Amino acid sequence: MKKALFVLLCLVCAGLCRAESAVVYFSATGTTKAVAEKIAGVTGADLYEIIPLRAYTKEDLNYRDENSRCSKEHKDPDARPKIGGKAFDIGAYDVIYLGYPIWWGVAPRIAETFVESYDFAGKIIMPFCTSGSSPIGDSAKLLAERAGSGTWLEGERLDGKISEADLRIRTAAWKKSIEGVKKTSLRSGSMKKKITQTAGRDNLGDFAPLFAHLNDDVLFGEVWNDESVSVKTRCVITVVCLMASGITDSSLTYHLENAKKNGVTKDEIAGIITHAAMYCGWPKAWAVFRLAKDVWNEESAPLTDKDRYQNTIFFPIGEPNDAYAKYFVGRSYLAPLSAAQVPVYNVTFEPGCRNNWHVHKASEGGGQMLICVGGRGYYQEWGKDAVEMTPGTVVNIPAGVKHWHGAAADSWFSHLALEIPGKNTSNEWLEPVSDEDYNKLK
Ligand SMILES: Cc1cc2nc3c(=O)[nH]c(=O)nc-3n(C[C@H](O)[C@H](O)[C@H](O)COP(=O)(O)O)c2cc1C
Repeated sequence: MKKALFVLLCLVCAGLCRAESAVVYFSATGTTKAVAEKIAGVTGADLYEIIPLRAYTKEDLNYRDENSRCSKEHKDPDARPKIGGKAFDIGAYDVIYLGYPIWWGVAPRIAETFVESYDFAGKIIMPFCTSGSSPIGDSAKLLAERAGSGTWLEGERLDGKISEADLRIRTAAWKKSIEGVKKTSLRSGSMKKKITQTAGRDNLGDFAPLFAHLNDDVLFGEVWNDESVSVKTRCVITVVCLMASGITDSSLTYHLENAKKNGVTKDEIAGIITHAAMYCGWPKAWAVFRLAKDVWNEESAPLTDKDRYQNTIFFPIGEPNDAYAKYFVGRSYLAPLSAAQVPVYNVTFEPGCRNNWHVHKASEGGGQMLICVGGRGYYQEWGKDAVEMTPGTVVNIPAGVKHWHGAAADSWFSHLALEIPGKNTSNEWLEPVSDEDYNKLK
């Protein structure tokens, strides 16, 4: 019995551990597809393509011909081109980046087919489009109306050839908005996340179809989504039931973590376990406390050097700067701070890390400005002595000047990098700074 319960709980855990965001897109000629794939690359989201049951031919897409398929669909507000391919597993996602091309200022009708086919309750949708030149306009608002559910963000037009670096900045801004919506919605309780489960069918669909159905459709489909008891209370009930049954293995850890995720505080869990101890036994409470202490004790996790350094600076360190790793010796990190007006990043170098010699090119304007915001490092122009950089040091790098910057050997180092606007800007990456030259620096 205990074993069966354990297996069930493991299945539950497996089913809940899925990607939370998906890039869903329609693309007739490949532009939106390329952007969607880049977004999935930088955000780690899954990809889903809206594939028309009947593909659009070149003739179908001729917008100059008023009798072409797309012209006719556009003129008919009830046109809903059918979607082929696999259905979208909307239950698996919280956040949907929805991409489409602009056709006559709005989204193609097939995007309406898509949004009318699913229930977006509890989802956050970030629309994006590509186009010849038209802005996103009201296209996202119209899709939101058609969908009738979900929290829809304003949406944004992206250039079909957007660079991965720019996309990182855009998607970081989107994530901020999405986190804001999540926080507000959770506080107001307006965004209820539907709990879904496919672990039963995934693992036992052939072997025990009735059990799979009961697990996915009844236990998780109905009971966990029954709003007469809050999810937080359900988590507490589950923890107490497992405790009472003497199950104190990894499945209980999972449910303790789930309880924490759903708002159970350290004081509350301490009170709950103490209370349950009076009814189901002292030794069981000791066993559960051992697990609960780990779950509610993340503050005591040992700090890494990076964590300690982060505590000394105001700006976030961000993510590993993988896209540019080939132009660096050592590991660096990138945190996009602003995409508007002047793009600004916080660039952090671990001790000994530096970028290669490089030149910011521009036919007019351009260049870069660095402002040290943490640690100690250097900036050096070709043929000149290195300049030490400490918090507050400002360096102006004109376009066309060969230079490098990076950390001192014994210190982390962070600077803001401000990309100065210019015409025909690009970067030319050159050879690494040799160990011999670098090791001469004090
Ligand atoms: C039927 C049709 C209508 C279009 N209407 C517009 C438009 O109103 N404004 C615009 O800037 N581009 C328009 N375009 C250009 C597309 O929006 C643009 O090429 C888009 O990036 C194509 O994306 P895709 O390759 O993912 O299909 C239209 C293209 C087609 C085929």
